[in-house]
Amino acid sequence: MKIGIYPGSFDPITLGHLDIIERASKLVDKLIIGVLINTGKNPVFSADERVRLIKKVLEEDLVHVKNVCVEKFEGLLVDFAQEKEAGIIVRGLRAVTDFEYELQIAQTNHKLFPNIDTVFLTTNLEYSYLSSSVVREIASFGGKIHEFVPGCVVSDVYDKYKEMRSV
Ligand code: PNS
Repeated sequence: MKIGIYPGSFDPITLGHLDIIERASKLVDKLIIGVLINTGKNPVFSADERVRLIKKVLEEDLVHVKNVCVEKFEGLLVDFAQEKEAGIIVRGLRAVTDFEYELQIAQTNHKLFPNIDTVFLTTNLEYSYLSSSVVREIASFGGKIHEFVPGCVVSDVYDKYKEMRSV
């Protein structure tokens, strides 16, 4: 069985991620979305919240995709991949500026665990400008995020910022 991992921070999941998940799911028998617990980026959403949002998207937006699941992980991606018996890491490339960093990480991961290869999917042009940080910036000012995140998580993102403002 060909198992792939699509790792990331997903803080929060965007339509760009959703597009990659849908396309990557066709390349493997099973796709595990790996949500990094401590991203070092001080995430707005906890790992459990990020997993919950992705599960919601899988249930509401990707009902036709049956071979995808989501799990959080800590530590090295290659250790998680090994534990899950995955042979493929999937990463999205939005622009050439992503490439240098992604190449370095892919080569490092391959060196650490030669049985694993990274497959890059080019982000749909429609989402090439999109990132979770852009979504967070807009949401933090109460701007419209409807065209950037899956419909079923829009209110969760706004609620999070409301909750943060109220403390
Ligand atoms: O969505 P992101 O933040 O671009 O995802 C980055 C991620 C989670 C893929 C990367 O930070 C990662 O794999 N972190 C786990 C630690 C690790 O294995 N690093 C690579 C070897 S240096």
